[in-house]
Amino acid sequence: MRKVRTLGLLGTGVIGGGWAARALHCGIDVIAADVDPKMEIWIRDTVENAMPQLQALTAGLPMPAPGRLTFTLDSAEMAAKADFIQENVPESLELKLRVLEPISKVADPDVVISSSTSGFMPSELHVGLSHPERIIVGHPFNPVYLCPLVEVVGNEQTSPDVKEAAAEFYRSIGMHVLILKREVSGHLSDRLQESMWREILHMVNDDIATTGEIDESIVYGPGLRWAIMGMSQLYMLSAGEGGVEYFFKQFGPSVDWPWSHNTAPAVTREIIDRFANGTADQAASKSVREQEKIRDECLVAIQRVLAKYNMGAGKTLNDFETRRRAISAG
Ligand SMILES: NC(=O)c1ccc[n+]([C@@H]2O[C@H](COP(=O)([O-])OP(=O)(O)OC[C@H]3O[C@@H](n4cnc5c(N)ncnc54)[C@H](O)[C@@H]3O)[C@@H](O)[C@H]2O)c1
Repeated sequence: MRKVRTLGLLGTGVIGGGWAARALHCGIDVIAADVDPKMEIWIRDTVENAMPQLQALTAGLPMPAPGRLTFTLDSAEMAAKADFIQENVPESLELKLRVLEPISKVADPDVVISSSTSGFMPSELHVGLSHPERIIVGHPFNPVYLCPLVEVVGNEQTSPDVKEAAAEFYRSIGMHVLILKREVSGHLSDRLQESMWREILHMVNDDIATTGEIDESIVYGPGLRWAIMGMSQLYMLSAGEGGVEYFFKQFGPSVDWPWSHNTAPAVTREIIDRFANGTADQAASKSVREQEKIRDECLVAIQRVLAKYNMGAGKTLNDFETRRRAISAG
């Protein structure tokens, strides 16, 4: 696959704009195509707004001169000039197939075509396209210029070179690449988010809580931890030195309790072993205490950052400080 000097974007909305800013900041030229001429002003504004954040994020790093942004209403022109194409049109399979088909005919076979789709699988996107072996999913997170995760998804038709070339490109623009073992509807992260989202819809529908209360239940608790460690590692840590066995002994039965509208699989020995092995790998030989120390130091640091913006748990910290100052002033 070819070296990426010019990134082609198909669709320049929230996600397309984010890709543009990230790539331009990393010295990649961008040719952005949209059907709506108003999007030229929009994408230029998006990039301008993102630049100070990107500069702050990478302060002290030797960054190249920014790339050059061009806009076109002609997606075939974009496909002919791009070394890598990222598709970001709205989440409709019919629309994606309709826009990808001509692009796949114009772009050379050594040009990767990656879709930002939140949940369609490569096998759904390949239908009727030229050289499907270079068409993959590269699923980012909003805002793309600050969230580093990109899920790379292929299938049996995908050439391994393509996945590796895409991963290399994404790494070159500062991203964390997660290559999925196999395609699955919703990929990994959106399946997890969707699970929670469906539960939230039940809670709102059953008038159990307001959306604000539900968001508080995330922001002040588990959400704080999720920037540091994933759910599997955190859950096993919550069992302390008792570890995986104690965790499943204590909380194993809860999967059959009415805590969720999602049905869970039977907790088999195999599942427990997978948690044991997976979280042991994640711990990378660190003891429970060592992991707790990292987790806690990060929790303190994140709250101090949030306090600067008076957001979430940072506001709680600020309110506590005001209270403590009032008390100590008598
Ligand atoms: N918004 C998110 O948080 C998010 C996160 C990850 C992935 N995604 C995925 O990224 C994709 C884009 O989402 P978005 O939120 O940026 O949508 P958006 O509606 O903000 O932008 C879509 C853009 O595509 C353009 N477009 C429509 N038809 C077109 C065509 N035929 N040719 C060229 N351009 C066309 C629109 O004019 C618009 O500018 C979707 O697949 C979505 O699921 C979104």
